[in-house]
Amino acid sequence: MAASAKKVEKLKESTLIWMDGKLVPWADAKVHVLTHSLHYGVAVFEGIRCYPQPNGGGAIFRLREHVRRLFESAHICLMEMPFTKDEVFEACKQVMIANKMNEGYLRPIAYYSDGLMGVGAVNPVRLTIATWFWGAYLGEEGLKKGIRVKISSYTRMHMNSDPTRAKVTGHYLNGVLAKREALMAGYDEAILLDQQGYVAEATGENVFIVRDGVLYTPPVAGGILEGITRESIIRIARDKNVQVEERRFSRDYLYCADEAFMCGTAAEITPVREVDDRRIGAGEMGPITREIQSTFFRAVRGLEPRYTEWLTPIEAPISAEARA
Ligand SMILES: Cc1ncc(COP(=O)(O)O)c(C=O)c1O
Repeated sequence: MAASAKKVEKLKESTLIWMDGKLVPWADAKVHVLTHSLHYGVAVFEGIRCYPQPNGGGAIFRLREHVRRLFESAHICLMEMPFTKDEVFEACKQVMIANKMNEGYLRPIAYYSDGLMGVGAVNPVRLTIATWFWGAYLGEEGLKKGIRVKISSYTRMHMNSDPTRAKVTGHYLNGVLAKREALMAGYDEAILLDQQGYVAEATGENVFIVRDGVLYTPPVAGGILEGITRESIIRIARDKNVQVEERRFSRDYLYCADEAFMCGTAAEITPVREVDDRRIGAGEMGPITREIQSTFFRAVRGLEPRYTEWLTPIEAPISAEARA
């Protein structure tokens, strides 16, 4: 079945969106059709999650690191941000509080507004932060049982053609084409290889494999996005005395892994049970993946004191009535 024919679930909207320093109703958060970034693909963005905490409130996971990456993406793209890092940090909290949400996905995006057209035009930069409720990105079942993945016919772009370290909208053509190809072929996700043929990453996730008890993940120098979840997993694994190596590996090495999983803010930690119709390990979530996933989910929900530095509480606890 063509991917486009699949039922698309509607976004679970919040009430307010932060736009250029003001909170506006969801339906009014609009831009002009001649918004420069819409035409030329230069908008920098982040995906961030906020998780419910034991006290009933919420906490944003690794907010400082996400804001930092947003500003680094802007710096790489020569985009002058109209707000400071501290202002963006506070605005992310504010948008959750204003929507009375203790759980959700946040999407800050900075873009060139309308004004002039042409590739060289530099219009004023605008910044928006939206939030909505987003469940398991690769499906609840995927989180538990693992997903089926296809190695893409598309290659991850080279760092000298597009600065791969930046999280820029234009890069996602590469990911969108790979993802749709995989979905249309009946898989759940795609993995892209780099220009030399080594495993790079998935369309919105970094990749890990386990072999003989060692965790391997492609190095950042290979032109992948430096995932914040990836870095959290490396720390969790090392804290558990699991050896982690940032090393290039080929697709056949991936086929023969004992375990494999993907990670990202949206996908969290999703096991991979099959790649190109080859079963990975026992064809289910492996023990090391399970252990890391479980610690990760406890950490984001404030149940692992060792990692509370990763959490930014959004405010005092929100009561169930206030959330309703
Ligand atoms: C291409 C790509 N790789 C990896 C990731 C994972 O990054 P993070 O863990 O910071 O969300 C993302 C998501 O932002 C992504 O879009």
